[in-house]
Amino acid sequence: MAHKEIDAPTGVETTGHSWDGIKELNNPLPRWWVIVFWISVIWSIAYWVFMPSWPGLTGYLKGTRNHSERANVEKAVADLQAARSDQMKRLLSVSSVSEIENDPDLQLFAITAGKSIFGDNCATCHGAGGQGNVGFPNLADDDWLWGGALGDIQTTIHYGIRSDHPQTRLNQMLAYGESGALSGEQISDVVEHVMTISGREANAAAAARGAAVFEVQCASCHGADGKGNKALGAPNLTDGIWLYGGERTDIQQTIYSGRGGVMPAWTGRLSEEQMTALAVYVHSLGGGE
Ligand code: HEC
Ligand code: HEC
Repeated sequence: MAHKEIDAPTGVETTGHSWDGIKELNNPLPRWWVIVFWISVIWSIAYWVFMPSWPGLTGYLKGTRNHSERANVEKAVADLQAARSDQMKRLLSVSSVSEIENDPDLQLFAITAGKSIFGDNCATCHGAGGQGNVGFPNLADDDWLWGGALGDIQTTIHYGIRSDHPQTRLNQMLAYGESGALSGEQISDVVEHVMTISGREANAAAAARGAAVFEVQCASCHGADGKGNKALGAPNLTDGIWLYGGERTDIQQTIYSGRGGVMPAWTGRLSEEQMTALAVYVHSLGGGE
């Protein structure tokens, strides 16, 4: 800039730049802006001093406060685990659900822990909320194959159903068709009987013949009235809740080929505390007896 040039209409000095005859005025920056600018410069220098900032060849400038978000997270996780392991140990000492129910803190802890263990291990078969699927029972209703008391649920989780554990819950319905134990007509008749006791329309003459078959072949497990037997894991056939579907073809298929759903045993895969937490969680899903 050779010499100062004052813009006549405004009385302001120009920068000397000119575009097509339009000149730029050299107004000073607004005072507030300059103040904010210098505050941020001072702030950033103070920040470098106290907090981690510049990267270096061997690590980074740690700052005088020696702050580390990573260390904070590690500590929080360690604290949480310590708190959990105390609660987990307490779960080991309980003998009945009422004991846990009398301790709302422990109950809440068991349900929370159980929920996450359930998501990792059980949801693939039983659904995220335990709502079940064809062949995999709903754990959130009050219909139980093997019983819904805390102890029953614990036994099921420990040893499984038709699992490879020596203490597994075990009861197998025959494949009545495949094995030839019943003829095609007898199976059709007993299907009509099952339709009748589950409150649906059926061929009355066939159902009457089927009732006789049922009494001989089926009542030992499902009960004379078809209401099932939890000691044997035999489902109630009258309640309209079906593990394998309640249409004629589903029932026919069940009787012809048998089913024999397998629930794995969890002893050895999960810890005792984890299985207790799971039992409390499943028990809390709505159908606990
Ligand atoms: C591989 C699939 C599978 C997985 C994984 C599984 N289950 Fe099961 N579960 C089943 C089947 C199948 C049955 C029903 C067996 C039968 O026909 O009696 C069952 C039955 C049950 C029952 C008994 C229900 C009743 O009505 O009596 C409970 C309780 C249960 N499961 C809990 C669990 C829990 C808790 C887990 C996770 C630790 C789990 N299951 C993981 C397949 C599975
Ligand atoms: C040895 C005991 C036993 C006998 C006998 C037996 N069942 Fe079953 N039944 C079971 C068990 C256990 C199940 C559970 C399902 C499984 O195998 O996974 C079942 C399941 C069923 C189901 C499916 C229920 C559902 O919710 O989907 C039907 C239907 C059924 N049985 C009908 C019969 C009929 C009809 C007979 C006689 C011809 C019979 N059962 C004899 C034990 C028995």
